[in-house]
Formats: sequence, C-alpha cells, structure tokens
Amino acid sequence: MLDEAKRAARAALEAWRRAASARRVRHSAPHVTRAGLAADLARLGIAHGDTLFIHSSLKSLGYVEGGAPAVVHALQDAVGPQGTLLLPTYYLPGGTVRATCAMSDYVFDPRRHGTHMGRLPEAFLASAGVRRSIHPTHSVSAWGRHAVHLTEAHHHAPSIFGMDSPWQRFIGCDQAKVLGLGISMGPVTFYHALEDAMGDTFPVRVWEDDTQLLACLDHDGRRWDVPVRPFDSAVAQRRIDHPGRADLRDYFHREFDAAGLRVNGIVGDAASWLIPALAFYAHLGRLAFDDVTIYATAAQLAARPVRQ
Ligand SMILES: CC(C)(COP(=O)(O)OP(=O)(O)OC[C@H]1O[C@@H](n2cnc3c(N)ncnc32)[C@H](O)[C@@H]1OP(=O)(O)O)[C@@H](O)C(=O)NCCC(=O)NCCS
Repeated sequence: MLDEAKRAARAALEAWRRAASARRVRHSAPHVTRAGLAADLARLGIAHGDTLFIHSSLKSLGYVEGGAPAVVHALQDAVGPQGTLLLPTYYLPGGTVRATCAMSDYVFDPRRHGTHMGRLPEAFLASAGVRRSIHPTHSVSAWGRHAVHLTEAHHHAPSIFGMDSPWQRFIGCDQAKVLGLGISMGPVTFYHALEDAMGDTFPVRVWEDDTQLLACLDHDGRRWDVPVRPFDSAVAQRRIDHPGRADLRDYFHREFDAAGLRVNGIVGDAASWLIPALAFYAHLGRLAFDDVTIYATAAQLAARPVRQ
C-alpha cells in the first residue's frame, strides 16, 4: 500500500517536472511541425523504403508541436509504408549491463517495462504497429516492413549484438541507414555489431569473460533465459559516449565526413546526420584494422590522422 502511494507520488512529480520542462522549451525554442520535420528528413537524404536505426534528442529538434509522437509520425512519413524504423527501447533497471546482471530478481517483461533511452523511444514504444524484441538489457523496437524480421529472434541470439540480433539483421536490409537526430556520434549502438562479429580479432577486449543468463518473458508470458555478457567497465570508461571523450567524437565526425559517408543536415532545429549502414560497418572494420576504435587512446588517434 505504502509502495503504491510512493509510486503514485513519484509519477505525479515526474509528470509535473516534464510539463514544466516542455513549457520551457515551448517558450525558448523555435516551433517545428510534423510536416516540417518530414521535409527536413527528406532533404537529409531519407527516402521511401529506407530502414532507419535512430538515436535522438527530442529537445534538440526545437519545440515539436504534438511532442514526441509527432516526430514518430514524421519519421513514418519520411520512410513511407514500405520503410522501417528501429529505435533503442533498452531497459536497464540497474543503470548498466553489469549492474542489471547483478539484480537477482530481475525478469524483463516487454508488457510492463518501458525504456530508459529518452522521450522518442518512449513515444515509439507506445505507438501503433510497433514490435519489440525480447531482451533483458537491449530490447529494440521496430515499425514497418521489416519490423517482425528485425525483432523476432533477439532472445535466440548468442549475444546482445550477435547473429540474429536486430543489428545483424538490420545490416542485411535494403537501404539500411543509421540516423542521428540532434546527437553526436557518441551514443550509437551500431559500433558494437562489428565488435561482436570480429570477436577475438577486434583490437580491444570489450566484454567481460562470463556470459550470464537473464530471465525474460515474451509477449505471451512465456519465460526465456537470454545470454548477456557485460561490457568491461574499465574499457567502457574510455568509450566514445563517455563525457570525457570529446576528442574521440570529434575524430569520428571528421573521419566519417572525410570518407564521404556522413551526410549532415538540420532537422527541425537539430544538427543531424545519416550514414548508410553497410558502408558504416565496412569503414569501422577498416578503422579497427588501423587500431582506431571507439575506445582509441589519444596516442592511437594521433598515430592515424584523419585523411582529408
Ligand atoms: C540522453 C539524451 C536522450 C538526452 O536528450 P534530451 O533531448 O535531453 O532528452 P529526450 O530526447 O528524452 O527529450 C526530453 C526533453 O525534450 C524536451 N521536450 C519536451 N517536450 C518537447 C517538445 N514538444 N518538443 C521538443 N522538446 C520537448 C524537454 O526538455 C525534455 O527534457 P526533460 O526530460 O527534462 O523533460 C540524448 O542526448 C541521447 O544521448 N540520445 C541517444 C540515446 C540512445 O539512443 N542511447 C543508446 C545508444 S548507447
């Protein structure tokens, strides 16, 4: 009873905080609409039939009339009925993969658990026709033509990013592209697909030694034990998404621009980018061969200057 009251109070406080924060954006940022966003996405190079893996910051877009659901609709307009959208709807109740693995009573339930990945993934999860993969830490959601294929086998994959995971299947889709809406090249999960595929030949030891089995329920309430191997926490400290690694983010921005792979543009009010997935993957492989990874030290970056 007390727990329920606490939960209700917390939810009310969060709703109040969100309303105040939305009001601030409404008064301070340029207003953008679904139609305007869809037009900007098309200008960036998104075409009907594309399959997009999207990482986002809602507040970077300006004040969106209709909120996050309007952005979901704009993305659907941009890829059309033959297109596919994929968003990270990861749920990490421990905050990290390692800490989540340590929660002995944790059972992921896609019908009950939301996402910690931001307002757009949250709205996407609540929108019609979305399929969600069964995974205790990295559940992905998809809408559109390839949605079932991309999400149906995640709980059978040997690792988070391994064969049959949404990332490995995404690479095989036509017109697959990674889209950053108002974000840097830091918080991009796609990097891990290559690390997983290269295994021991990847130049950095990214994962801990042991794989754990974490319990999940599927959409019908059946139980699955899904393999998860936590990131090595010391290595993750020097990763591209760590606040202290602006040097690495800057290097990747310049590198992918110089290679002609990153298309840059403005969506709403947000600096955004788009990279074709296959070319992204192949280029990450070439960089890894030169010891440039999302964990590279300053010395490793200096040893391989960006080639203009
Ligand atoms: C962390 C991150 C999500 C923060 O971005 P953000 O814009 O501050 O947060 P969200 O996208 O959740 O948007 C919420 C904010 O939008 C703003 N907002 C609310 N209504 C809005 C509206 N109608 N229009 C525009 N912005 C609005 C509010 O400021 C809100 O902030 P609040 O949480 O304080 O209420 C982003 O920087 C990021 O890293 N995104 C990628 C995440 C990811 O994919 N990770 C996986 C890869 S490892």
